Amino acid sequence: MRISVIGCGYLGAVHAACMAKLGHDVVGIDVDTRKIAALSAAQAPFYEPGLDELLDEVQSAGKLAFTTDMAAAAGCDVHFICVGTPQKKGENGADMSFVDGATVALLPHLQPGNLVIGKSTVPVGTAARLAELVRDAVPTAQLMWNPEFLREGHAVSDTLQPDRFVYGVDGGSEDHPAVAILDEVYSGPLNVGTPRLVADLATAELVKAAANSFLATKISFINAMAEVCEAAGADVTQLADAIGLDDRIGRKFLNAGIGFGGGCLPKDIRAFMARAGELGADQALTFLREVDAINMRRRTRVVELTRELCGGMLLGKRITVLGAAFKPESDDVRDSPALSIAAQLQLQGAVVTVTDPKALANAAGRFPELHYEPDSDRAVQRADALLLLTEWPQYRDLDPYELAASVGSPRILDGRNVLDGAKWRAAGWTYRGLGRP
Ligand code: UDX
Repeated sequence: MRISVIGCGYLGAVHAACMAKLGHDVVGIDVDTRKIAALSAAQAPFYEPGLDELLDEVQSAGKLAFTTDMAAAAGCDVHFICVGTPQKKGENGADMSFVDGATVALLPHLQPGNLVIGKSTVPVGTAARLAELVRDAVPTAQLMWNPEFLREGHAVSDTLQPDRFVYGVDGGSEDHPAVAILDEVYSGPLNVGTPRLVADLATAELVKAAANSFLATKISFINAMAEVCEAAGADVTQLADAIGLDDRIGRKFLNAGIGFGGGCLPKDIRAFMARAGELGADQALTFLREVDAINMRRRTRVVELTRELCGGMLLGKRITVLGAAFKPESDDVRDSPALSIAAQLQLQGAVVTVTDPKALANAAGRFPELHYEPDSDRAVQRADALLLLTEWPQYRDLDPYELAASVGSPRILDGRNVLDGAKWRAAGWTYRGLGRP
């Protein structure tokens, strides 16, 4: 099929490349000329494992092109809207200007029978509103919603082999003509048995908000348990292992630590609360305020623990932060708890050095006042304390015996509970985990 993908950020660039990999003829469209130039040269403007190789493969095969010209959408049968919905400045709600703008810009290029498919995470009600715009422009064109669940760092495999597809169509019926069209787009993964659910537009939009809220709640639940464990002298990692063996609970997303960040979970739960408020259902989601508060409390807690670790004072202490990205296998620092902690420590008088295998350029853009050192061996030299805040494999695998010779004082705070505390202590370190004795 001929497909346009509008918006080539984390979601759109991956989606465009994956649709081409599935055999379609794809054009990726974005207003950002630098992004389009990079993607055309098979270089993703962000780090995502496997994406550069995939871009190269599908562009060499002539299946994918990139442009800043929206007119390139004309002639495509299917148009995916993949632009961002960031948090509004100073408000909890989502900024819809990019989704609205992209849809309006697409309208003049729509042709009879075209299908517009929203993938962005949007407040419930958006799809119905935009469907009307599409119908008004071209009466035989239609709009459906097909939320994306990809995780950064696993975006290519999550797109090519997703857990499930959710199709939101007007009326929610399997017989809606858009269902057959999207089935053709996704025939590859559908043929290997990927589940596919058809729902009405509002339900499809809510599935995404509910899924992210559940994940955020799971993380804040275990972080709340970490607070109790700290008070009681118990170990939250053992607690998570034990409750996680109950199938109904499951061990995934029960890693206590510095909390969740990134471009999705924090802003999505806030936008969900804001939208529920508009709908008069705010009481239903007040618990998400607590989820958010528990999450933000982790950052303050780490600053306090670091102060304790440094003998009660941060002033002038050399702190090395291992990891700046909001999670490993990503260079994304949007709402990164690691960077937020680094910045707070610096503000309180510590001399902070941050290292990360991929995210330093983005980190320096956000917090230019911090000191960045790409070489982790150099970054740890003479440190008064190390903080492991993003669990990249190279930090998980650090050898406490070797490292002890480089640092000023062998003290480490394991913000992701990924190190073997006993081993580090045996090597002479003062080890602190979160929610662990
Ligand atoms: C998330 C959802 O997982 C994905 O389905 C949705 O489409 C977009 O938002 P992503 O933002 O890529 O994906 O990151 P995710 O893997 O969910 O991690 C989010 C944050 O939670 C990270 O900061 C991570 O470090 C943290 N986390 C995750 C924990 O603190 N503990 C855990 O057990 C799991």
